[in-house]
Amino acid sequence: MANFVPVDVFDLVIFGGTGDLAMRKLLPALYHRERDGQITGESRIIAASRGDLGRDEYLGLVEEALRENLVNDDFEDAEWARLRDRIHYVQADAYDHDNWGALVELLAGADDRIRVAYLATAPSLFGTIAQGLKKNGLVTATSRIVLEKPLGHDYESACAINNEVGQCFAENQIYRIDHYLGKETVQNLLALRFANSLFEPLWRRGAIDHVQITVAEDLGVGGRVEFYDKIGALRDMVQNHMMQLVCLVAMEAPSSLHHDAVRDEKIKVLRALRPITEDAVRTNTVRGQYTAGAINGKTVAGYADELGENKSSTETFVALKLEIDNWRWSNVPFYVRTGKRLKEKHSEIVVQFQEVPHSIFPEQKYNVAPNRLTIRLQPDEGVKLSVMAKEPGPGGFDLRPVSLDLSFEETFGVRYPDAYERLLMEVLRGNPALFMRRDEVEAAWHWIDTIIETWEASKQKVETYVAGSWGPAASSLLLDRDGREWHPDV
Ligand code: BG6
Repeated sequence: MANFVPVDVFDLVIFGGTGDLAMRKLLPALYHRERDGQITGESRIIAASRGDLGRDEYLGLVEEALRENLVNDDFEDAEWARLRDRIHYVQADAYDHDNWGALVELLAGADDRIRVAYLATAPSLFGTIAQGLKKNGLVTATSRIVLEKPLGHDYESACAINNEVGQCFAENQIYRIDHYLGKETVQNLLALRFANSLFEPLWRRGAIDHVQITVAEDLGVGGRVEFYDKIGALRDMVQNHMMQLVCLVAMEAPSSLHHDAVRDEKIKVLRALRPITEDAVRTNTVRGQYTAGAINGKTVAGYADELGENKSSTETFVALKLEIDNWRWSNVPFYVRTGKRLKEKHSEIVVQFQEVPHSIFPEQKYNVAPNRLTIRLQPDEGVKLSVMAKEPGPGGFDLRPVSLDLSFEETFGVRYPDAYERLLMEVLRGNPALFMRRDEVEAAWHWIDTIIETWEASKQKVETYVAGSWGPAASSLLLDRDGREWHPDV
């Protein structure tokens, strides 16, 4: 059963309180936690933003957003009435620290509560907001600050943000979000690896041939196109979500679930990534951009049309091969790919085991396919192990792969909470295990930077792919060259 232990009374200040993230993710997440009784007492949610809005006007926007974003008719008037009583709105310009009076007044006398500042804003504002909090005397012993991704756009800018925020908050007060770490199945990966003894002896070179990680989205860039055009898929998805998944698959067993024990193991993986040389960037990375196509029978526009110009070389798709230089993973490549406007929303980790060393079934019609462990992140979270079996019937051995298939939702029969619900509760409880430590973020940027720099210097071609496909042909060739292929396990 899910664990709905209430959290202590808190003040949660959301900077960027009228923005997309607050409306689409944070407030719906808080609604659910309110409904399950985790938010108690006099806890307050204080939205801060530049706009000159009255409280009622803001509440109107929140109600609209909840009605739109809560699924399965989850919106209920009684729950909303409880939540709305907690919500306040203050005007606060990130740069104008002298005019944060309304916020200071609201927080006056509440220094003993847990105080969280959630920065759902552009990263360029992180430093100035942290300074504004300090300058206005709003940083208390129980304060925490939450930084949304992207944390910078390269190693240098990430270090600069970390330094600026670090002048106002201690490292253990800083919670850097990667919402993939809050996904149930991502956490289940830890359970699968470290609560079962079955896999560990096989989780290495000698048994595993390679690993594939796919995070495919059917959505396009839509309303975010201007913002996205400066970023691209490598910075938006690979530097953070994909690298975190690589770490969780590849890391050694931590000695406990203590946040530093887990993060110490993840950072070792990031440091063991083989640096990508210029030549390797050319051969081991693929960039793509979608053109018009059809998804689920509906025609969709291409990226250039959404942007309104044809010159952008921003990638909406990335595939790459990476190697981890340590004993466990030597010569076991990891292939990762992510993209927008692909055939369907489908994310999974595929652990491909090696072939049998010698087949004793020379007569069988099909090859003996190597075993494969598929961890489905979304949709329909679960785990599938494919093994070879004999087809029933007299005569010779007809073999075919069959699956031991476990759907978590069917097994546990509960609603899967959104990642933000868990992450918000973890911040309020003061548990940073599911957040990125400074060194992790910087190490990931360090590795990614070479790719970005080489792409820019060499003007590496952005391949096109038709919306509704699985990405550019070059992505298949990346594996084909190694005698392998992607497994969209659908
Ligand atoms: C965000 C990216 O971090 O993750 C988005 O900025 C992307 O571009 C999103 O769409 C995907 O998250 P999820 O949870 O839908 O897989």
